[in-house]
Amino acid sequence: MKAIYPGTFDPITNGHLDVIERAARLFTEVIVAVAVNPEKHPFFDMDERVAMIRESTEHLSNVETVAFPGLLVDLAAQLGAQVIVKGLRAVSDFEYEFQMAQMNRKLNPGVETVFMTTASQYSFLSSSMAKQIVKLGGDISDLVPAPVLRRLRERLASEG
Ligand code: PNS
Repeated sequence: MKAIYPGTFDPITNGHLDVIERAARLFTEVIVAVAVNPEKHPFFDMDERVAMIRESTEHLSNVETVAFPGLLVDLAAQLGAQVIVKGLRAVSDFEYEFQMAQMNRKLNPGVETVFMTTASQYSFLSSSMAKQIVKLGGDISDLVPAPVLRRLRERLASEG
């Protein structure tokens, strides 16, 4: 069975990677789908976000990464994926995720949303928090994959 793991991934964190690794053991194929999301102004552009995910998931032979500009359920139909995987960190994630799952079911009842709880050591972690900590000189080397750490440091060095 093929699953889609969607998100903004600005950038991918070890919390996301943990969900991808666990999903890759459950499903025959996992497509990491990076949303264009025009309402957000990402720190990393689409090519960088996709490249960081590809580099971080190189060890997973059944994982692929794609960018998508449209509706998630349309991508699922186009790729023949029956499942949307979402990670839940805390109860605070639930309301928004529940709303999206209900809307996606209304848009395409053939696609099922499956929630996976985040590993406890990453339950407090978000992409925005990781970016903020590194900008303020904190250490996030155990919170993001190595390709992300490298790019964050390069980017901050270039910005002075
Ligand atoms: O990492 P995020 O920002 O929480 O991910 C949100 C995402 C990308 C999963 C969501 O915004 C999404 O699915 N966008 C694609 C557009 C879409 O299908 N919208 C309707 C969903 S109810």
